[in-house]
Amino acid sequence: MKIAIDGPAGSGKSTVAKALARKCGFTYLDTGAMYRACALRCRRQGIDFSDAEALAACSKAADIAFGPFGEKTQVFLDGKDVSDAIRTPEVDKDVSVVSGIPEIRQDMVVRQQAFGAKGDVVAEGRDIGSVVFPDAEVKVFLVASPEARAHRRAVERAGGDTAKGEDVQVAAKDEQAILTDMARRDKADSSRASFKLEPAPGAVTIDSSALSVDEVVGQIEHLIEDARKAAAPAPEKKEAAPQAPKKETKPAPQKKEAKAQEEMRAFAHAPVEEYYEHPMRKFPWPSRAFLAIAMTGAWLYTKIVFPWKIEDMDKFFEGQKDDGRGRVIVMNHVSMLDPVVIAIALYHRHLRTRPISKSEFDKNGFVSWAFSRFGCIPIVRGTADIKAVRRAQRALQAGDWVLIFPEGTRIKSDDQPVQVHGGFALIAQMAKTDVVPVAIVGARDITPKGKHFPRPSRVYMKVGDPISFDELGVRKRKEQIAAMEKVSMERVYALRDELRREHPGKM
Ligand code: DC
Repeated sequence: MKIAIDGPAGSGKSTVAKALARKCGFTYLDTGAMYRACALRCRRQGIDFSDAEALAACSKAADIAFGPFGEKTQVFLDGKDVSDAIRTPEVDKDVSVVSGIPEIRQDMVVRQQAFGAKGDVVAEGRDIGSVVFPDAEVKVFLVASPEARAHRRAVERAGGDTAKGEDVQVAAKDEQAILTDMARRDKADSSRASFKLEPAPGAVTIDSSALSVDEVVGQIEHLIEDARKAAAPAPEKKEAAPQAPKKETKPAPQKKEAKAQEEMRAFAHAPVEEYYEHPMRKFPWPSRAFLAIAMTGAWLYTKIVFPWKIEDMDKFFEGQKDDGRGRVIVMNHVSMLDPVVIAIALYHRHLRTRPISKSEFDKNGFVSWAFSRFGCIPIVRGTADIKAVRRAQRALQAGDWVLIFPEGTRIKSDDQPVQVHGGFALIAQMAKTDVVPVAIVGARDITPKGKHFPRPSRVYMKVGDPISFDELGVRKRKEQIAAMEKVSMERVYALRDELRREHPGKM
């Protein structure tokens, strides 16, 4: 499904599009950021902004990629993070010129359509509903009064988070300057011959001036539901029609309830197995709430008892393609704390991590119940558990990350023999994704032999450079798997040794 969101600057479309994508488990495409990246590249290369041909050539050569969308969109230009650099007043000015050049627009539209072809997407931008995805199932034109828009931008520039409904004191003259610039941009954008700043055919206009983000998202969710119903096969529609209350009179809470019931039904017949088959964002709401509470509790507890630190957290996302796939994380295994901390840290960045757990845990009904809600995927060790491999592959393709401990069991001392299980490389290859090596030290000491309760300890982790199959220099699939296994584990142990040197005494 494609959701197209459009509207003038400051109407809240980015905030709403991101919140909606997160809620529905869709990927998010910020087309404005692509034009901004082009404008930045042209400026950095010293292109004359009156030379349309040179601007087009420079933009066409731009390598633009998106990181996972968290608080703000992570944008990479030619491999470098430009998330902040594209949001300056200079780029605000340059982008109007760049986005007005038809050759550049044609190139961007092709890239955007390729992005949309990969699956469910919430896309925002000026021509999304009319040119890029004219077949989008839901089209929204988001508007807000000029004053509301200028105020939001001013609050954001002053460091306030409008997505969370924050308001901070801003100088009237700053707000006025933004208002003037916005009026200029609106005029430039809407007087353009190639497209106008107006709703695409079939778009629903929503005025966000007096609405919270959640309220706007809620309204769009109703539109999505209507679109789904409209797309349902005819016989089903006929049967449902007599009972369905009229569109205008149907109150919002009932729709929400129906959606929640639908979620629950999907998981009802095989309560534990269904969790292994669905992406974590599609879990029913009570499970998502359970996870949120557990994550918060675990964060508080672990931060107090095992003050932990992850070095180079940003490496998790380095060079990530914009294909919405998760990555495979491999790590040395020293205690039960390891998966918890990684899952918390990524959850904080709005990502879901699925630890691959040994199937022995499934013997205990409660553990099995809880682990399934935590997103674990059980694997029968020592066998080619193709069912688990496929589940992990599908999870990665749906955007979940997969955490694997190739050592298979907790390693309590350096003398303990280690047998590395290479399944992780196969999973990464099948899901066409990269492997990120991570090491942990300090957690081995928390449950000394003969003790049941963990003792407090400082814990350190370090993230290594992601490893892609392309960089391994081998072509045959089997050789690639072997090389990935070897390189990944070498990096894990090298990272661990670095940590040990940095933190003497920590094992
Ligand atoms: O949404 P934004 O402020 O990041 O957009 C930056 C500029 O790019 C703005 O002037 C509108 C323009 N734009 C465009 O022409 N077509 C799009 N699909 C998206 C943005």
